[in-house]
Amino acid sequence: MTEQKIRIGIVGARAYTARELLLILARHPRAQVAVLQARVDDPVPPGDVFGVLRGMDLPDIVDVDFSHLPADLNAVFLCLPHTAAAEYAVPLMERGLRVIDLSADFRYGSLKTYESVYGVTHPAPELMAKAVYGLPEIRRASIIGAPLIANPGCYPTAVILSLAPLMKRDLVVPGTIIADCKSGVSGAGRTANDVTHFCGANESLKAYKVAEHRHESEIEEQVSRLAGETHTVTFVPHLVPMDRGEYATVYAKLKEPMTADNVRRMFASYYENEPFIRLMPGSALPDTKNVANTNFADIAVRVDERKQRLIVTTAIDNLVKGASGQAVQNFNISYGLPETMGLV
Ligand SMILES: NC(=O)c1ccc[n+]([C@@H]2O[C@H](COP(=O)([O-])OP(=O)(O)OC[C@H]3O[C@@H](n4cnc5c(N)ncnc54)[C@H](OP(=O)(O)O)[C@@H]3O)[C@@H](O)[C@H]2O)c1
Repeated sequence: MTEQKIRIGIVGARAYTARELLLILARHPRAQVAVLQARVDDPVPPGDVFGVLRGMDLPDIVDVDFSHLPADLNAVFLCLPHTAAAEYAVPLMERGLRVIDLSADFRYGSLKTYESVYGVTHPAPELMAKAVYGLPEIRRASIIGAPLIANPGCYPTAVILSLAPLMKRDLVVPGTIIADCKSGVSGAGRTANDVTHFCGANESLKAYKVAEHRHESEIEEQVSRLAGETHTVTFVPHLVPMDRGEYATVYAKLKEPMTADNVRRMFASYYENEPFIRLMPGSALPDTKNVANTNFADIAVRVDERKQRLIVTTAIDNLVKGASGQAVQNFNISYGLPETMGLV
């Protein structure tokens, strides 16, 4: 007997993350894309927006209009900038649809932090309490059946995964976390500016938003929650001239003397049953090439024992584990499907 498909909509269907979602959902046996909406004047075949989608059996992208959603729709992915996502989440949730939001709108427990960091008034603060932070490796239980899933930011995914086993045991000295991170240009979305334009980014390496990147506060909130005490994080992102991929090198001081072997064993036990975490063996280190187009996070753990300093390096694909792959992982968990469905 064929199992019934879960009918899916994507709003913001011309976004980079939407392209990635469509590629993943094409090989998902239980998901069917029923509607694609974006700001368009006339219906557009998705293959006209992203050539890689040409020939795929997908509905045309139509203008955003929730009075024309299919009656049997089940879930909607929002591939939109912050505030637009929250505005659209309200009517979708009123219709009883499950929402997976890729923006930052529902990632925070604190409305005050969100509004001060993003410099906006939250369009739907009443929905914040309904949202769960969709990083399965730390919040799996709360994602099951959740009506509103806040998909984490790409950098926070890499940095929190680099620290979670130790934060959970409260083994890191507050105020000592430094996250030195690099991202490919697709992390900035499809609209180019002077920095992300080919001529600005190519053959160059540059830090940006030092001490002012919004993901810093998202990381701080989540690692503090895990540890049960307040942690600040120094987060410095860099733009790397590659299409996709993200690399986090995370430093922290340990509260008690630990050997590298101890810490490695702790990571191995914490991530033992995680289908998308690959701890690097021996002296191997992660590489963005080896996670490109996959939902894996490759993690290597080191301890400089003389200084009691932890050094973790993690590689993910910002568009997959950092965005759309993780969104499908959350979708699977939320609907009680095998977590890896469509993703491996
Ligand atoms: N890129 C990444 O690696 C990444 C990773 C994690 C999370 N995210 C988050 O995921 C979301 C999507 O990111 P992205 O990189 O895919 O974005 P993107 O490529 O820049 O696309 C954003 C899309 O949002 C649409 N849009 C903007 N305002 C809208 C509105 N008011 N109503 C309807 N559509 C609107 C734009 O539509 P038009 O086509 O009409 O201009 C555009 O297609 C963002 O919140 C981003 O922060 C991105």
